[in-house]
Amino acid sequence: MRADAALRVAGKGEAVDAAALMIEGVTKRFATADGPIVALEHVSFSVRQGEFLTLIGPSGCGKSTLFNIVGGLLGGYDGRVLVDGRAIAGSHRAIGMVFQEESTFPWRTTLDNVAFPLETAGVGKAERHARARELIKLVGLDGFENRYPAEMSGGMRQRTAIARTLAFEPRILLMDEPFAALDEQTRLLLGDKLLQIQQALRQTTLLITHNIAEAVQLSDRVVVMTFRPGRVKRIVEIDLPRPRTSEIVSSAAFGQYVASIWNDLREEASQGLSESEAAPLRRPSHH
Ligand SMILES: Nc1ncnc2c1ncn2[C@@H]1O[C@H](COP(=O)(O)OP(=O)(O)OP(=O)(O)O)[C@@H](O)[C@H]1O
Ligand SMILES: [Mg+2]
Repeated sequence: MRADAALRVAGKGEAVDAAALMIEGVTKRFATADGPIVALEHVSFSVRQGEFLTLIGPSGCGKSTLFNIVGGLLGGYDGRVLVDGRAIAGSHRAIGMVFQEESTFPWRTTLDNVAFPLETAGVGKAERHARARELIKLVGLDGFENRYPAEMSGGMRQRTAIARTLAFEPRILLMDEPFAALDEQTRLLLGDKLLQIQQALRQTTLLITHNIAEAVQLSDRVVVMTFRPGRVKRIVEIDLPRPRTSEIVSSAAFGQYVASIWNDLREEASQGLSESEAAPLRRPSHH
């Protein structure tokens, strides 16, 4: 059923059947000095309410571009993005983002970085600081409340940014490689914590990662993308029981999911590599 039809059926109340987020035929081209490039081509999928969905694909396949479109930071694309069955243009208050690159405010301490969304929402100082402290604890930064970003490591700054986005309490959370700057242990712990929060709040969550095991452990579904132009290659339903503890990682079913996604990705990644290796050597083509 189409989302707008679902809305009509549901009448004035909640759009029960509507997906939380729908990406409909999104194509994005960029003009570059070397001519136009197609970053995304006819990308379509929908995300259910409360679903944890991961995007995985080779570097440069358009994952961040897609998040920037959904988050309202990038326009000039074909297709539509719908939240609760309604097409959106620009930013939407239900959507919160954690960026791939660092995004803390250098002039604010950890506490005031995390409390920022609450401050803009008009929450009083005592309450927003109390809430920010909880989130800071959650990402393992207690003791660093009064430090500035320049006094912390890249991974600590990234955790500050994650806590700040959680303070928004977005209904739809987009996280672009939030764990990339973290060591393996912190990554696992923080991944577990985020999963706990997500399961408790049933927050609709989209994650970009290059880590296949992480994708399988956290997700309800994994969207595998092709190398340029970025298209949906396959959507893998991860049918593993929840809650998912780290024990699941050693199960046979887990290993099969990882192997099958790796198989898809290897094809795409090798294309990406051979293309960039060949580029400096490429002679003018004859056709
Ligand atoms: N503003 C822009 N202008 C021109 N080209 C761009 C722009 N932003 C992205 N691109 C190009 O679009 C393609 C997709 O980029 P994007 O950052 O979305 O990839 P990605 O999948 O997030 O990669 P990675 O895994 O390395 O983060 C790349 O070829 C990139 O060079
Ligand atoms: Mg990216």
